[in-house]
Amino acid sequence: LPLSRGPVASLETGRLSRPRNEVPIVTLSEIRARFLEFFQEHGHTVVASSTLVPQDDPTLLFTNAGMNQFKAVFTGVETRDYKRAASCQKCMRVSGKHNDLEEVGKDARHHTFFEMLGNWSFGDYYKQESLRWGYDFLVEDMGLDPSRLWFSVYKDDDEAFDIFAKDLGVPTDRIVRLGDIEKGDEENFWSMGDVGPCGPCAEMHFDQGEAMACDHPDGCALGVCDCDRWLELWNHVFMQYDRDQEGVLRPLPMKSVDTGLGLERLAAVLQGVDSNYKTDLFERLIACMAGIAGRKPEGEARISMQVIADHARAVAFTLADGATPSNDGRGYVIRRILRRALRHGYLLEVEEPFLYKVCEEVVETMGDAYPELREQRDRIVTICRQEEERFLRTLGAGIKIYGEIRELMKAEQRTEVSGAEAFKLHD
Ligand code: ALA
Repeated sequence: LPLSRGPVASLETGRLSRPRNEVPIVTLSEIRARFLEFFQEHGHTVVASSTLVPQDDPTLLFTNAGMNQFKAVFTGVETRDYKRAASCQKCMRVSGKHNDLEEVGKDARHHTFFEMLGNWSFGDYYKQESLRWGYDFLVEDMGLDPSRLWFSVYKDDDEAFDIFAKDLGVPTDRIVRLGDIEKGDEENFWSMGDVGPCGPCAEMHFDQGEAMACDHPDGCALGVCDCDRWLELWNHVFMQYDRDQEGVLRPLPMKSVDTGLGLERLAAVLQGVDSNYKTDLFERLIACMAGIAGRKPEGEARISMQVIADHARAVAFTLADGATPSNDGRGYVIRRILRRALRHGYLLEVEEPFLYKVCEEVVETMGDAYPELREQRDRIVTICRQEEERFLRTLGAGIKIYGEIRELMKAEQRTEVSGAEAFKLHD
């Protein structure tokens, strides 16, 4: 691996043995590889990402977390020949309990499609090992400045609190207690959906600095506001319960661990940029779109390019995994994402099909890590392009009718036109 180990931080001084800006830049591909290697060194079996399009779980339109493929292992229905696993999972958060679609374009850290690194224990190790390895990976392996790490635990999880404070030497003013499920506050309590395995969680956050602080009336602070300053990197869920249809929590047959580390977020921190969209892979997609639009990626245009880059990944990956745009269910979600990207194309004054070209760039930039992209390149490009052409035709027809209605209203000095009249115009 070209990745050099980060500096070992002094817990007494809270400083790194060398300044942060000397930490080597680490690409997404390198982080992905090093993460899996780290957990392999700690006895984990590396498992391939499961498909984004789950076939056997009616509660789920798209895979939304690394633990999905282990759901039945947590509940004790299924056993594997390993008790520790690690993976880099393709995830989509666009429907159901975990839906970030509307956040894309508003902040620097949410995506529809993203990659989640994770480690799992199935009735094997628990909080102590998971939090220790998590901390060591971030500080010792990745070289993050420990004085910029903040932690949150579920309101009464004294065990996790003490592991951070006593075993890892974190000052207690950087450990926050959050959540209260009895009062409907699900902070630091994670579940995949309304039913299924769940449990309290401890999170590791990176303070991106005062320059990124928001002006929340109660002050910009972890657990108070929801701004980009407090970047949640890694969630460690302590799987203890199975939630039923009535919302009743029943203990699982064994205590397990389920973690999720946002690859794009960690890459942003390591590359010293304040947005996931400024990391190496995203910059290539944004440059591709900037070239198509013939505009610089600045201001509002950049926001549109970011949305398009995000959505192109979602479209390319879901089409590669066999989904097809349609008018209901999973297919409808893809159609919506695709059309949202096209609307941003319109804002950039691109009125020809373009998204399929950005999808091709996704294949180029991510095809080594995900060979299915290369294998399904034709499918991705063909279906995306057809969808674009169809939508642009519909949009073109709509804009024409709208223009005719406006002309009619102007000519007859009217403020209303009935649907029936509009239909006639169309004839
Ligand atoms: N399953 C947990 C999450 O997605 C780790 O945050």
